[in-house]
Amino acid sequence: MGKREKQKQKHDRTQRGRDYYLQENDTAQPFSSTSTLSPADNEEEEEEAIDDADSDNNNNEQHPSHDMPSKFLLYQQSVQSPKGDISYLQKFFLMYVGGRVPLHLQEDFCGTAFLSTEWLRSDPRKTAIGLDLDLEALTWCLENNIPKIGADGFSRISLFHGNVLQPLQSKLVEMDPEELVRNISLSQNTENLQVDVLESDVPTSSSAQDDKLTAKNFPMNGRDIVCAFNYSCCCLHKRADLVLYFKHVRDALSTKGGIFVMDLYGGTSSENKLKLQRRFPNFTYVWEQAEFDIIQRKTRISLHFHLKKEQRKLRHAFSYSWRLWTLPEIRDCLEEAGFRSVHFWVREMPDTTEITRTEGFGAGKDIKYEETTSFQQQDSWNAYIVGVA
Ligand SMILES: C[S@@+](CC[C@H](N)C(=O)[O-])C[C@H]1O[C@@H](n2cnc3c(N)ncnc32)[C@H](O)[C@@H]1O
Repeated sequence: MGKREKQKQKHDRTQRGRDYYLQENDTAQPFSSTSTLSPADNEEEEEEAIDDADSDNNNNEQHPSHDMPSKFLLYQQSVQSPKGDISYLQKFFLMYVGGRVPLHLQEDFCGTAFLSTEWLRSDPRKTAIGLDLDLEALTWCLENNIPKIGADGFSRISLFHGNVLQPLQSKLVEMDPEELVRNISLSQNTENLQVDVLESDVPTSSSAQDDKLTAKNFPMNGRDIVCAFNYSCCCLHKRADLVLYFKHVRDALSTKGGIFVMDLYGGTSSENKLKLQRRFPNFTYVWEQAEFDIIQRKTRISLHFHLKKEQRKLRHAFSYSWRLWTLPEIRDCLEEAGFRSVHFWVREMPDTTEITRTEGFGAGKDIKYEETTSFQQQDSWNAYIVGVA
């Protein structure tokens, strides 16, 4: 069955309960690699914001409701595309290192470690490490993503709570063993049972462990690939921090050779106020650039979700203060941190002033990234940057 047919079947389901929000991973469309977002229409803007959450605290889930999907689930469905990213990671590893299959991944700024979870699926020898400041996102991963890859998932992934600038001080996030068994056994049961437990409001029983279990004291393989996706390096505002972070990445990579891969967006449209949206069958995802300071190159990005069935909005579900780095700045910092070579893979994105409304799926998927040393400015572009250690 083709992807479009599968999607149509999902549209046609008459019963739209909680699993209405659970789509197969391969239907997720990233902002970063397809940009099928279109300009947000005024009609949406004029609606009253019901859930105008505190953008800095990302606290839309302070009062979780059984009727509301998790903001993390909505994010994974609308923003991320782990399969696409992983196929590029494997291609880059073969091209720039080669000689072995990459098995050990580290996902920095991992959020819910959706990409790491997907990484583990394809080969039982694969391992993953995730690192993020957001304990709630890491815990959500333990409870919702990892149980879906089977019982051995927990033994092949380690999530650390901490700062990428001090990775060795980050703390292992562990689940209470009883909770772990409960999640695994339920996830191996029927889909409905799985949804019930994964979306429940049970208090979290995971926590970042004490000093004994910092990354410093944790045995880890040298990583074949370290990645930082969805523009996460823009969370670091100072050049010195960027170089320090890249040095930590180099230290984590295998002595047999490895790569670091990050992404970046840009173009004339990235330096303005802008609101783009993508419609999904059950919700609309809105990307908002609220400001752009040309001196500090700082922008404020908010992600909003408008839920159709519930007629509610999760405004500022995620909010970021980013320094929009340029490609040559990133290359210089990677070289300063000791990377042997740096490669740019760029693709043009649909012009934000011309794109017409898309209904969420398909458009723009066939445009590929190309390795290049020169690229003329566009309204909008996306890049993978590969540092070879
Ligand atoms: C744009 S999100 C990216 C999430 C995920 N990597 C993805 O591809 O969608 C940025 C993430 O970086 C985390 N973060 C920001 N600064 C950080 C830091 N200094 N150390 C670790 N994580 C950080 C945030 O908590 C957030 O989860």
